[in-house]
Amino acid sequence: MPRVDPHSYTDSTHPVTTHISLSFYFDFPSSTILATALLSLSAPHSGAFTVDSRSLSISAVVDPVTFVALPFTLEPVSSDAVLGQAVTVTLSNQSQLLFIFKTSPSSSALQWLSPPQTFNKSVPFVYTQCQAIHARSIFPCQDTPAARIKYSAKLNIPQYLSAVMAARHVNRRDPVSGESNGACDDSLWCGEGRTVEEFVMEQPVPPYLFAFAVGELGFRELGPRTKVYSEAVPEMLDAAAREFAGAEEMIKVGEGLFGPYDWERFDLLVLPPSFPYGGMENPRMVFLTPTVIKGDASGAQVVAHELAHSWTGNLITNKTNEHFWLNEGFTTYAERRIVEIVQGKERAVLNIGIGWRGLVEDVERFKDNMEFTKLKNNQQGIDPDDVYSSVPYEKGYQFLWRIERQIGRPAFDEFLKKYIAAFKFQSIDTETFLDFLKANVPGIEDHIDLKLWTEGTGIPPDAMEPASDIYAKILSLANEFKSGRIPNEDEVSNWGGQEWELYIENLPKSIEASQVLALDARYRLSESKDYEVKVAFLQLAISSRCSNYYNEVEKTLKEVGRMKYLRPLYTALVQGPGKEEEKIFAKRLFLEACSCYHPIAQGVVEAILAKHM
Ligand code: BES
Ligand code: ZN
Repeated sequence: MPRVDPHSYTDSTHPVTTHISLSFYFDFPSSTILATALLSLSAPHSGAFTVDSRSLSISAVVDPVTFVALPFTLEPVSSDAVLGQAVTVTLSNQSQLLFIFKTSPSSSALQWLSPPQTFNKSVPFVYTQCQAIHARSIFPCQDTPAARIKYSAKLNIPQYLSAVMAARHVNRRDPVSGESNGACDDSLWCGEGRTVEEFVMEQPVPPYLFAFAVGELGFRELGPRTKVYSEAVPEMLDAAAREFAGAEEMIKVGEGLFGPYDWERFDLLVLPPSFPYGGMENPRMVFLTPTVIKGDASGAQVVAHELAHSWTGNLITNKTNEHFWLNEGFTTYAERRIVEIVQGKERAVLNIGIGWRGLVEDVERFKDNMEFTKLKNNQQGIDPDDVYSSVPYEKGYQFLWRIERQIGRPAFDEFLKKYIAAFKFQSIDTETFLDFLKANVPGIEDHIDLKLWTEGTGIPPDAMEPASDIYAKILSLANEFKSGRIPNEDEVSNWGGQEWELYIENLPKSIEASQVLALDARYRLSESKDYEVKVAFLQLAISSRCSNYYNEVEKTLKEVGRMKYLRPLYTALVQGPGKEEEKIFAKRLFLEACSCYHPIAQGVVEAILAKHM
């Protein structure tokens, strides 16, 4: 069966799903969802029809018109650890099929937080993270970004909770109180103490953008199309509202650069600290880590990034994860253009510099697996979570910046707008982009080696480090540290988190333990409220075998679940020779902390530990 995507069982000879109608009953005590999913296909089909699933218990597949059960087979659990289990249903000219199923408490997309794991400590919370290939652990679907779907969803939840989705909210039914704005005619479904929240997503989206959260949620109004939501804790909501006050201005800047904002709302949801990413670009409602709320408006960079995805990623989507750079490289470029306008050129240069450092390091990290230093790469048999790196972001950014330098900013801006208008609501691959580029910028291939950039390994010779006085000063101070000089107070008096991050990341990988202590005695980096700074410092301390900070490492790994912090800290602990004690420490830490990590983060840390044990 010809596959359209190495990460999906979707068969290119089958019709595609165009709409899914979902009904979910959230059972918090068992951390499961009892569910039905009605898939509508682009055409009637006879014979085998295959969808993706992972850890779902499917009790029946039914023809929704005749109510006749449709035969189906579920692949054995162990057959493919990366893809999950193919479900093959035998159809006879149906264009709709109804799955009746239940999720597992170990669903890889879902984190179920018990009341003690929440901020309020009194009620439970659950949220999704579907990118890259986890939507299939919530409902059976053709889980490939090549196939876009519209959907509707009814979420049946305890009445004292509320639900949000990356979709339009259409109704909340509270049948028991009789005050609902929509009657419920099914007493079982809307029984006492339950509420049904209804949503629709009328724009076709890749399945990885499916998202919800259920908990005791509150919100603050930020602008005409933006609210910020989080657990209903007034101080948290106030801090979030201050941090993200500039959202509307940013949307307007984005529209000026890339064309109209097509998603109507741009709401933000601040998740508990276990959220595994900095941000996730779920349409209409971006999901964010609370670690970006630092009280200094620096969370704006993450918001700029997720907002930029509204054009690059959500409007134009990579066809498969092998072309992930089309999502993240374009978004990193777009993010920095927004940052340049909103926060100034100097800020953008620092971001480019931090990104450059990350790229150099990841290319080094992949030196035995150069495939993943290519923009377009082969992911047959590969779990995309295992090869996540800054390469698609930063090499992608560098490629687009290179094109901008070649043709000039005005021409590149015009090209970008045209590209977005041409491919919006489509899923495309690298070749489609290159063909469009060559057609619209004739002769570009005579100046830029497009094949080297997209198919070659490592960093091309015409990539470029950014330049500015402040950037150069920070790098030269980092260089002087080699001869033992710590910057004096005057030199760092106007440094914020990003300046410190850039400085620490440009220090040698490992230094004398006494130097680690001296630097911290002066600037208290281990106590920074900014996790970027704190984690960069703790990573340096571990690599320098300075064990004084292991308590702080333990505290950090137990209070956050963002993989950007877990990866370097766990890796620094277990990597390299003579690390027996650190390995025992890391293992203990993981055992104690893992129930607080999202399943995706658990998997990533397990892989790091397994590689080095
Ligand atoms: N879409 C990504 C997060 C993601 C990538 C989730 C791959 C799952 C698989 C999101 O837009 C992102 O890049 N987040 C960054 C933000 C940063 C670049 C500003 C993050 O989480 O660190
Ligand atoms: Zn992104």
